[in-house]
Amino acid sequence: MKTRSLARTMLVLVALLSVQCLSAARSEAARVKEFDRSGKLVVVEKTGADLMPAYNIKNKQPENIYPVPRPPFSEGVFPCSQCHSYMKPNPKRRVLTDYHEEIVLHHAEGQRWCTDCHNLLNRDKLRLVSGELIDFSESYRLCGQCHGDKFRDWKVGVHGKRTGNWNGDKQYLLCVHCHNPHDPKFKPLKPLSPPERPGSARH
Ligand code: HEC
Ligand code: HEC
Ligand code: HEC
Ligand code: HEC
Repeated sequence: MKTRSLARTMLVLVALLSVQCLSAARSEAARVKEFDRSGKLVVVEKTGADLMPAYNIKNKQPENIYPVPRPPFSEGVFPCSQCHSYMKPNPKRRVLTDYHEEIVLHHAEGQRWCTDCHNLLNRDKLRLVSGELIDFSESYRLCGQCHGDKFRDWKVGVHGKRTGNWNGDKQYLLCVHCHNPHDPKFKPLKPLSPPERPGSARH
């Protein structure tokens, strides 16, 4: 007798649970408009699972986890705040004479100035157009704002240099390991004189 009533209680429980599950699934379901194969607009019922976003390979990695070696700063220049935290920031476009004289902008210089990339108040950070401040180890995000095609190629290892396993640890070189951010265009190589033929050397 006892086991019968226990079984009945179980049955009721299972029934209750499945009703709950069904209604949960229904609450996520929705009627959506869609084009069918013949191109006609139809209303179809979709379940919660149907409506879940598809796995997107592009979103596999968040933007900021590309492992890179340390940025190629000149000796002693970083942190920038060792000088700049004691200086009044000067956003004025001008020829620098007291320091950084070697930096001459030749990178769409008509349209911008140092502080479009370097944050005026915290010189240890780079600045994106959105106003977001990023570390120098993420400078590829700065470049990627305008050179989206190269940035995409770089991420998949087509442009620049990526080492490591295709499915394991990878290391990327920063854009600035190869391009000078202030003057990024590669200079044409100076042609060398052809090798001399042995025996033709005149003495
Ligand atoms: C297109 C964006 C951009 C502009 C414009 C820009 N910089 Fe930079 N600058 C960078 C990036 C990125 C680095 C980081 C290079 C690295 O990681 O070694 C850098 C590095 C530097 C450094 C360190 C250089 C070194 O020798 O290691 C100094 C100093 C500097 N910038 C000053 C300036 C000044 C001054 C200006 C304006 C005349 C300027 N920058 C304009 C992006 C920019
Ligand atoms: C040894 C001190 C020193 C260090 C280190 C230094 N700066 Fe400067 N920086 C200066 C001086 C001095 C000036 C002003 C130059 C002038 O007005 O002719 C200047 C000017 C600038 C300017 C122009 C805007 C302004 O506020 O005058 C930028 C941008 C800049 N520095 C970026 C950097 C960055 C980025 C770094 C680090 C990568 C850095 N500096 C490291 C001394 C330094
Ligand atoms: C605000 C937009 C902008 C940002 C940010 C930017 N660039 Fe550029 N870049 C340009 C424009 C515009 C040109 C073409 C004009 C010129 O060369 O002066 C250019 C030219 C170049 C070139 C030369 C292409 C050629 O063959 O002439 C290279 C290489 C380059 N950028 C690399 C970089 C790197 C590396 C960074 C990051 C440190 C960067 N850019 C950040 C706008 C940008
Ligand atoms: C391992 C070195 C290396 C790295 C890292 C690298 N580049 Fe380049 N990049 C090159 C070379 C080499 C060229 C070809 C230069 C030429 O053809 O004159 C080039 C060309 C370019 C050009 C000009 C292309 C054109 O069509 O003329 C741009 C813009 C550029 N790179 C941006 C970037 C950006 C942005 C990054 C980082 C996301 C990056 N590069 C990383 C080496 C590199």
